Amino acid sequence: MHSVAANGAEIPALGLGTWTLTGKGCTDLVREALSVGYRHIDTARAYDNEEAVGAGLRASGTPREKIFVTTKIWYTDLAPADAVQSAEGSLKRLGLDYVDLLLIHWPNAKIPLAGTMEALNRLRERGLTRYIGVANFPTATLAEAIKLSDAPLVANQVEYHPYLDQTKLMAACRKAGIAFVSYCPLYRDGGLLREPAVMDAASRHRRTPGQVILRWHVQHQGVVAIPRTSRIERLAENAALFDFELSQAEMASITALAERNSRICDYGFSPKWD
Ligand SMILES: NC(=O)c1ccc[n+]([C@@H]2O[C@H](COP(=O)([O-])OP(=O)(O)OC[C@H]3O[C@@H](n4cnc5c(N)ncnc54)[C@H](OP(=O)(O)O)[C@@H]3O)[C@@H](O)[C@H]2O)c1
Repeated sequence: MHSVAANGAEIPALGLGTWTLTGKGCTDLVREALSVGYRHIDTARAYDNEEAVGAGLRASGTPREKIFVTTKIWYTDLAPADAVQSAEGSLKRLGLDYVDLLLIHWPNAKIPLAGTMEALNRLRERGLTRYIGVANFPTATLAEAIKLSDAPLVANQVEYHPYLDQTKLMAACRKAGIAFVSYCPLYRDGGLLREPAVMDAASRHRRTPGQVILRWHVQHQGVVAIPRTSRIERLAENAALFDFELSQAEMASITALAERNSRICDYGFSPKWD
């Protein structure tokens, strides 16, 4: 599995997203993903599936140290004691002694970031997570988090797909050595896969549109993609990204779709985006 180097961490460039997957279906997908070569699983306390994810990790028989597991602390739990409780609860539900990456799920301007960063650093020192990072942090808040942390941050997980220009934030992540982890990488199949630029590249490379988009992600320096599927038969399809390459012209024509400027995950509690 290809990986992205980020401030000491080696993050597998492809992970399985698990939002909306629950119960036995989630367990089966996680187990199967690991058996077809995935080495990175993305969950969160808020997804209400950590027990099912943990069961899948165990059922796969894959040695723990070969898997990169990410979980997150919800934005209402960022006061230090709540953050610690959230992380400890996640480990208990996952049935793990440590996660590889612990993220702040969303920034929360109402809770001082200094205390949360301090709590993340202590959790790391206790060995409950190997690395720490953030999600949905725009450039200004990211810079603040970097400044407030003793340990380097290794990831900013944010929405990214060809309908959204993230040039500014990606540059800030690269400069800080932080992996840029694309969520909603397929735009939840909301039409992106039927764009002519995508379909043309797919037929030229004899690949599926989903593979073309995921390849577009991982072909950017420092970018990790975490697509979700609820279909076991799609797991191998979404992982077969490292034996072909899009041309510069193909990359550019897919990147040009950013003109649409469309964001899926935007809520009342979202920060002011770049
Ligand atoms: N940090 C955050 O705030 C945040 C926010 C959103 C998401 N995330 C993370 O990012 C992950 C991915 O994002 P997402 O789940 O929102 O969206 P996504 O991965 O862009 O899209 C998932 C959708 O695409 C379909 N799909 C998957 N592979 C496909 C393929 N090869 N061809 C056609 N359709 C395909 C799936 O349908 P089928 O199930 O039918 O395959 C599903 O409906 C999440 O699961 C979660 O782990 C994080």
